[in-house]
Amino acid sequence: MEDILQTLHQHTCSWLKGNITMYKYQNFWTTKHLIEGGILAQQNFKAEPSDVFLCSPPKTGTTWLKSLAFAIVTREKFDESTSPLLTKLVHECVPFLERQVAEIVAQRPNSGLPLIATHLPYSSLPESVAASNCKIVYIYRNAKDAIVSDYHFRREALKLDMEDAPFEGAVEEFCEGFSSYGPYWDHILGYWKASLERPERILFLKYEDLKRDPASNVKRLAEFIGHPFSDDEEKVGVVDNIVSLCSFENLSNLEVNKTGKPKGGTLENRLYYRKGKDGDWKNHFTDEMKERIDKLMDEKLSGTGLVL
Ligand code: A3P
Repeated sequence: MEDILQTLHQHTCSWLKGNITMYKYQNFWTTKHLIEGGILAQQNFKAEPSDVFLCSPPKTGTTWLKSLAFAIVTREKFDESTSPLLTKLVHECVPFLERQVAEIVAQRPNSGLPLIATHLPYSSLPESVAASNCKIVYIYRNAKDAIVSDYHFRREALKLDMEDAPFEGAVEEFCEGFSSYGPYWDHILGYWKASLERPERILFLKYEDLKRDPASNVKRLAEFIGHPFSDDEEKVGVVDNIVSLCSFENLSNLEVNKTGKPKGGTLENRLYYRKGKDGDWKNHFTDEMKERIDKLMDEKLSGTGLVL
């Protein structure tokens, strides 16, 4: 492993006062620890056809997607008053491939939960994911909101004040491709191309669409992952209950998500719940920054029909 890591290009994020160094592995950038996890996953993880991968670039709605998918697949066991989501951070309910591959492999035969989350780009997923033909749900988000969300997440994780972490620096590095698991556009394009080839196995969701119409998107998600709602369930309000259970307002106000820390982790749970809004970029971007990102996204995603 060290041999591989030593050959990789490195980049130290200057806007974070040099506190984070990322490495470039298979054309994406992330921290050493996550690259090690990705390599271990590529070497050891064997996907099953019944697995459901929840994939995303960081800060695009992973926490929300995981909560919704977990509530959907466990709804016969738990309801909105007994769900583990009320007492545990969702990242403890749905495993994250790069951090927990050994645990996932060990618990495999009897875990009973088909969900696995990852930030790995499509082309870096363990080969068995495509070979098993398992389902993949991908969530992405307006690039400007993803930049703002990541800016605050990493800044707060490092306990840096805004004055000590220039936002322009975060925008600059994003444009150069140095975002976590970035370049951001390549991450999206990889899954988007795969979804054109295998539309029945890869569902694309957009954070802004989920915000605008959560119930329809939750129904699409449930159907896609093989847990559709019955007419009776819809009549008695199961979809709305799941939407409410997983809403930002509900989850962000739970004690566990306000004051908890995941077992063995250092990040506070509250960092995963910041504002939960579409369009917070308007409070951070100058006109010039907005134009720069819009132009870049138009160029990178031209011809796809994807709007960021
Ligand atoms: P903001 O920083 O814009 O508030 P990820 O889960 O991929 O790390 O993304 C985090 C973003 O999703 C944060 O965005 C966070 O507030 C938002 N988020 C977390 N849970 C959410 C929920 N249940 N509903 C809507 N947004 C949510």
